[in-house]
Amino acid sequence: MKELKERIIHDGIVIDNRILKVDSFLNQQLDPALICHIGTEFARRFSDTPIDRIVTIESSGIAVAYAAALAMKNIPVVFARKKMPSHAMENTYHTSVYSYTKEETYEVAISKQFLPAGESVLIIDDFLASGEAALGLASLLQEAQCNVAGIGIVIEKSFQPGCQRLQEAGYRVEALAQIEKFENDRPVFNQAKS
Ligand code: G4P
Repeated sequence: MKELKERIIHDGIVIDNRILKVDSFLNQQLDPALICHIGTEFARRFSDTPIDRIVTIESSGIAVAYAAALAMKNIPVVFARKKMPSHAMENTYHTSVYSYTKEETYEVAISKQFLPAGESVLIIDDFLASGEAALGLASLLQEAQCNVAGIGIVIEKSFQPGCQRLQEAGYRVEALAQIEKFENDRPVFNQAKS
């Protein structure tokens, strides 16, 4: 997605050739027009697939999932919570996710009432790195007997194993910007793919 890649080049900050900070338009401050275009692009890419709802994970996935859901004619969006009151846990699907970037394990949970069995569900997230978050969401969906219609990612770090792990598990992954590597603290995009 050209607009997104241009924005990453213009406003993204690369730290230690490892982490791309996009706080000015995606991870803290949001650019509503860009987020809206991201949602439209997800809707276009998955227009060949029936989708009943979108699932994401708090916090940064929510805005893009919302934009995609609106573009898909207002289907419901559900976000997995990282903190759930302990009394509410028994009516949830939940699993542990290890964050390589943050070096911590956290629990993600979704209330069972928001994942009706038999639906086709699209997973959306802002970054794909190790793939732990998306695999965790996919396992919740399997437990809920939902079909994973695909996985939509705003920024994929292709030099990390996430995309390959998801594809090997049989999931379709659509990433709007794919970063092949960082060089001199600048992103190099995989031009052939995104
Ligand atoms: P995963 O997201 O594929 O599971 O990989 P990883 O375990 O490495 O990522 C853990 C967290 O770090 C995720 O955020 C992910 O979005 C974020 N992350 C990974 N690489 C980058 C990067 O280069 N730049 C930025 N800005 N974030 C990165 P999270 O824990 O879900 O947090 P939240 O921001 O969504 O609340």
